[in-house]
Amino acid sequence: VHIVILAVKPQDIKEVLAEIAPILDSSKVLISIAAGVSLKVISSVAGKQLRLIRAMPNIAALVLESATALSQGGEASAEDLELAQEIFGALGRTVVLSEALMDAVTGMSGSGPAYCALFIEALADGGVQMGLPRREALDLATQTVLGTARLLMEQGEHPAELKDRVASPGGTTIAGIASLEAKGFRSALIEAVASATQRSRELAKIRE
Ligand SMILES: NC(=O)c1ccc[n+]([C@@H]2O[C@H](COP(=O)([O-])OP(=O)(O)OC[C@H]3O[C@@H](n4cnc5c(N)ncnc54)[C@H](OP(=O)(O)O)[C@@H]3O)[C@@H](O)[C@H]2O)c1
Repeated sequence: VHIVILAVKPQDIKEVLAEIAPILDSSKVLISIAAGVSLKVISSVAGKQLRLIRAMPNIAALVLESATALSQGGEASAEDLELAQEIFGALGRTVVLSEALMDAVTGMSGSGPAYCALFIEALADGGVQMGLPRREALDLATQTVLGTARLLMEQGEHPAELKDRVASPGGTTIAGIASLEAKGFRSALIEAVASATQRSRELAKIRE
């Protein structure tokens, strides 16, 4: 099986697709990672039915920790999907979802590294405000997020259970949580995903 991975910027995709269309046929699997470019757009620009897979990875692919969602196009087989899972599995974790959910994936795990970076920066700022040196504060904040993510992933625990485990009655953690809740921390994140998803839908329309 020949695999073609389309990894150019979304605004270049039509030009590149038109250029490679002559060599695309049903002997190849075409995997697109272009954000906001639908499988429908790809097959219409290519002008033929193709074995298509759409992937939405994130920047953590650089350290082999991507969270990648994959969608299977109509002509792609179960084996093609498995192949894509194998490829992107080498770059992190994969999930398979219907293409209709790709905007939500973009707004959540696609943009998620930026939200997490903001969280880490702010956590460290809090530490600095309370007297920690900047470098150590950033180190501790980053490791805290990494460690928590690994705990949840490796022990398969629900985040709410982990939170309950570390929030002892009358303790420090519950005081911090109460403050986060008062500032709408969780709803801010929920709304961030909704806004980013909406923006992804708008951009996808422009690229049609
Ligand atoms: N970065 C992410 O975390 C992320 C996450 C999800 C999806 N994506 C998607 O991944 C795609 C690439 O993003 P990126 O951040 O990797 O962009 P990028 O660094 O700008 O990479 C684009 C690549 O396309 C090549 N290219 C440009 N025009 C070309 C042409 N006419 N023919 C052949 N190759 C061409 C470029 O080669 P040269 O450098 O030689 O010009 C470059 O290697 C985008 O569609 C983006 O939406 C990225």
